[in-house]
Amino acid sequence: MIYFDNSATTKTDSTVLSTYQSVSENYFANPSSLHQLGEQSQQLLTRSRKQIAQIMNVSEGEIYFTSGGTEGDNLAIKGTAIEKMNRGRHVITASTEHPAVIKSLEQLEMLGWDVTYLPVDKEGKINIDELENAIKKETVLVSLMAVNSETGSLQPLKEVGELLEQYPSIHFHVDAVQAIGKIDLDLNNSRIDMAVFSGHKFHAPKGTGFIYVKAGRKIASLMSGGGQEDTLRSGTENVPGSVALAKAVRLLMEKKTENIKKLIDIKNLIIDYLSALEKVTVFTPTESAPHIICFGIKNIRGEVVVHALERKDIYISTTSACSSKKKDKLHSVAEMGYTKNEAESAVRISLSHHNTEQEVDIFKRAFDEVHLRLQLIE
Ligand SMILES: Cc1ncc(COP(=O)(O)O)c(C=O)c1O
Repeated sequence: MIYFDNSATTKTDSTVLSTYQSVSENYFANPSSLHQLGEQSQQLLTRSRKQIAQIMNVSEGEIYFTSGGTEGDNLAIKGTAIEKMNRGRHVITASTEHPAVIKSLEQLEMLGWDVTYLPVDKEGKINIDELENAIKKETVLVSLMAVNSETGSLQPLKEVGELLEQYPSIHFHVDAVQAIGKIDLDLNNSRIDMAVFSGHKFHAPKGTGFIYVKAGRKIASLMSGGGQEDTLRSGTENVPGSVALAKAVRLLMEKKTENIKKLIDIKNLIIDYLSALEKVTVFTPTESAPHIICFGIKNIRGEVVVHALERKDIYISTTSACSSKKKDKLHSVAEMGYTKNEAESAVRISLSHHNTEQEVDIFKRAFDEVHLRLQLIE
């Protein structure tokens, strides 16, 4: 089997899974319980938070555990909206954001909020002047993803941050779900106020994640209850998940440079191969994340390619897996100026550092056959 669908989800690392199991068995008490067992669970949670904070170069009070990317995006957006509703009700985002962002904003629109969806260029980037022109007195939030999950496009976060220095009251939220371990993200020395991460995208268990909220930035909680996570996210804590998550962050980041180099080498091999095929268009821009390759075979719908490769035990996806079974899916490729037909041909290979160059050779042989056969039935 060749698994090239790591931006949809990754296989949980076996050592991370052992940690999850051992904490579940040995430290099952509720961290809020006053007894010694509860205290031990609390200590594990504190240690995991500290570990993540150290690796991300932020302080531990700025890290809150969540269930993943969707929850984090909802919390950052709606939490800001509720907190700042008396100051202004305007948000700016990009048209190519993940549904966790777009749908959260659509809910706000139903409640009377005003949302600006900035267009993107052929590279999938917003334009800084257009962002500046969109800012108004009522703007309370700018929400942008670091790495586009469908195409690997990068947003100019540094330039956005520099612009937002002039607007200190606007919250800057970054969906960093596809960015951690793949690109440099300096939370400490940036204008970013909130950043969202999801464990299952980097070999941690599903249902784990964390949000960074810069010290001094206040957002309202969406989960009311027992006041866990410094009242931001009530609910009994997922201690085994958080310990496993911290371990996965450590494993990811201690080999970050090496892993990125490996991803770039594999990505380049695949892009060189695909670019030489006459009927294939590569949608991923040159400057992009090291692990995502979005492309399409002319006039062949993406799902046909996915299923043809599946029959050869190779797993890729049609753009964003979170929405790929829904009819109303958003096409970043279409937003980048490609035709509807081209966008419908889009498929995505997404890599993990566990992939190898040998797998690329097998993929190439399989795709040689698949793309010739599909052209015959075109
Ligand atoms: C950019 C981005 N944001 C948010 C999410 C949602 O994350 P989760 O699956 O952890 O809810 C995803 C998932 O694909 C994503 O790629």
